[in-house]
Amino acid sequence: MGFCAQCRAQGTLQVVHASGAGATVGRLRDVAAEPVARMESGLAELDRTLGGGFVPGAAVVLGGEPGIGKSTLFLQVAGSLAARGETVLVASAEESAQQVAMRAGRLDGDYDGVDFIATSDVDTVIEAADAVRPALLVVDSIQTVADGATDGPAGGIAQVRASAGRLVAHAKDSGIPVVMIGHVTKEGTLAGPRLVEHAVDVVLYLEGDPHSGMRFLRGLKNRFGATPSVGFFEMCDRGLREVHDPIGLAGPSAVSTPGSVLFPTVEGRRPVTVEVQALVASAAPGMARRSVKGIESARLHQVLAVLERHAGLSLAGRDVYVAVAGGVRVREPAADLAVALAVASSVLEVPLPATAAWGEVGLTGQIGAVGANPQRAAEARRLGAERIIAPGGSVRVVAEALAAAGLGPELRDRDDVAVVA
Ligand code: TYD
Ligand code: MG
Repeated sequence: MGFCAQCRAQGTLQVVHASGAGATVGRLRDVAAEPVARMESGLAELDRTLGGGFVPGAAVVLGGEPGIGKSTLFLQVAGSLAARGETVLVASAEESAQQVAMRAGRLDGDYDGVDFIATSDVDTVIEAADAVRPALLVVDSIQTVADGATDGPAGGIAQVRASAGRLVAHAKDSGIPVVMIGHVTKEGTLAGPRLVEHAVDVVLYLEGDPHSGMRFLRGLKNRFGATPSVGFFEMCDRGLREVHDPIGLAGPSAVSTPGSVLFPTVEGRRPVTVEVQALVASAAPGMARRSVKGIESARLHQVLAVLERHAGLSLAGRDVYVAVAGGVRVREPAADLAVALAVASSVLEVPLPATAAWGEVGLTGQIGAVGANPQRAAEARRLGAERIIAPGGSVRVVAEALAAAGLGPELRDRDDVAVVA
């Protein structure tokens, strides 16, 4: 190029490798695949999503909406490690030492041993890390630190890439694992975690409804973990509390109100039962709305079309609201049948007490089989589901599923469709 891509100075590039002569090619069998020593954070729900703890030199990015609890989570991790005698360095460009100390004072645990530096300069972060050699470096946030050699404002694409690149390289060189916190908007579009996902080893997302306490820590990518996993927390007034047995995700309303169906989801391989809620109400003329929270709107539209076409349910001129309670985001198509039943239950004003359902609803009105049926059934039963409506039993099409639940305009009185129990 003739000039440096970062500082634009001419004639500053140096040839490091004149040819490939120095390259060494090795056989994989000669490379010792030693088991890595992982450092547990002390928070089992986090260690689970990490696949057993922090790997030396790992680069981790934690994404999530502002205010969801990212800074709180990693301050608690820092406190937990420091209490075990490990050095942890928290570098914050978002909050002052006073703010962080105030937050620490509010949380359970001992934070006296946590090292802290307030800076927005990535060089300063790296210098500090080289000086204290922590067991873990936390950078809060990747959008607010900047690399002096790169143009552009902090939070811009160039700066996020450059700063993350510096921090990842530092982790690899020093062996010190780094956690980079990054904000995403509700749409997940803003420059941030998405920009650096390919460059890091582990991508975690902290999710949840800001107005409710439950938080889900989802592992979306893990170069060191066998399977993606999910951790559960609850935001309390003394910080995030681990929830090892998430029994409270399906509210008590799942029992007797029309429009509520239980759905055992197995995303992240860990079954957890959520409550799918639907409300169908008459709309202002020509203004029928579809509002959805926690599932993809395209799937809701498909399920509604199938209900109209294949189950004789009329939704024209009505508002349809569907939400997954507790701020969980369900990405599995297996939620379709629970959505269909919740909507039908609301339309017909027939409650579905203690009913769990799953299955992928196809365009032809067929219900497709999904995986993990025994795990789903066991989890649903554990939460008190007495009736399970799912493919694999006698339910093959949506209309039969509705009939099995005691819903469905034409099929309600049929007694030849069995309930899968
Ligand atoms: P924070 O960790 O600052 O979020 P992020 O770093 O993802 O932006 O969390 C902020 C929210 O958490 C704030 O709305 C207050 C709430 N919170 C509690 O409810 N309890 C607590 O003990 C703490 C520290 C925060
Ligand atoms: Mg924060």
